[in-house]
Amino acid sequence: ENLQGKVAFITGGASGIGLGIAKACAKHGMKVVVADARQEALDEALKWFKENNYPARTIKLDVTDRPAYERAADEAEAAFGKIHVLINNAGVAAGSGPMQEASFKDWDFIVGVNITGVFNGIKIILPRILKHGEGGHVVSTASKGGLITVGMSGLYCTTKYAVAGMMETLATDLQGTNVGASAFCPGPVTSNLGFSSAQVRPAGLKNDSEKLPPPPPPGSGPMPDWSKIFMSPEEVGERVVRGIRRGDLFILTHPEFREGLIARNEAILRAVPDEPLNVERKNVLKTFGSL
Ligand code: NAI
Repeated sequence: ENLQGKVAFITGGASGIGLGIAKACAKHGMKVVVADARQEALDEALKWFKENNYPARTIKLDVTDRPAYERAADEAEAAFGKIHVLINNAGVAAGSGPMQEASFKDWDFIVGVNITGVFNGIKIILPRILKHGEGGHVVSTASKGGLITVGMSGLYCTTKYAVAGMMETLATDLQGTNVGASAFCPGPVTSNLGFSSAQVRPAGLKNDSEKLPPPPPPGSGPMPDWSKIFMSPEEVGERVVRGIRRGDLFILTHPEFREGLIARNEAILRAVPDEPLNVERKNVLKTFGSL
């Protein structure tokens, strides 16, 4: 896919991974609309595009606010004509720890942004992409935690499995069009997720008392050097652009998760009943596209 001159609309684009994707899109000749809920972060982000003379526009947007999302889409089209690439990247973390200890407020907050926010993007922007007929792509930032779970972050992983599922289904729905869909599933990347999640959390969804994360268990040794483990937003941004170009269904970052992915898929395959196939059933399932 030739991205030169095309327009990308990136939610949560003012920080971390979204900003890395926005920079990569700009470097590959795209015009960039950076949408984010935090105005200060938008102002800070815009500096880089101005300094480097890249065409970019920032829009303050909370992806859970549907009327505001419609207006943001109109504003993006007024600025750059058409939107070709939608990056549903805005996301938050909430309710870490054992799942049953998370609050209903944690659930409502994280589901609202991480799942409903992504659907809002699909519902509001995708029809505009399909309508102009020039082709395009939808990428949603799920996570490695949307393919294999991480302990003590059940709410987060649940939302990220949903995002991966949405993109897999969307890719099937879009077959035969010139619009593609990808689930972006990064491992650890340097970002401001903890800080910005607290900042964007509406007052009505804040917990009465915020639990502090538990201290590391005694004898667990020194903390790892995060800078060595976390990838940079710029690096993962380039991987996203490459994935869009190739039309990849999944965009992954860390080869270290290969074994975990194999183990999960093997567990699923082991659960497939070891019984003879019912040919009639198989044919019917095929007609419904479930095979
Ligand atoms: P970040 O905090 O640096 O960036 C997220 C941005 O989204 C922030 O600027 C924030 O203001 C914005 N945002 C939050 N809620 C919003 C809303 N309702 N409407 C509009 N904007 C909103 O964090 P990061 O890590 O770059 O997060 C980006 C995405 O990557 C998230 O979906 C996150 O779940 C996902 N992710 C992050 C990983 C990491 O290691 N940093 C790993 C896997 C996935």
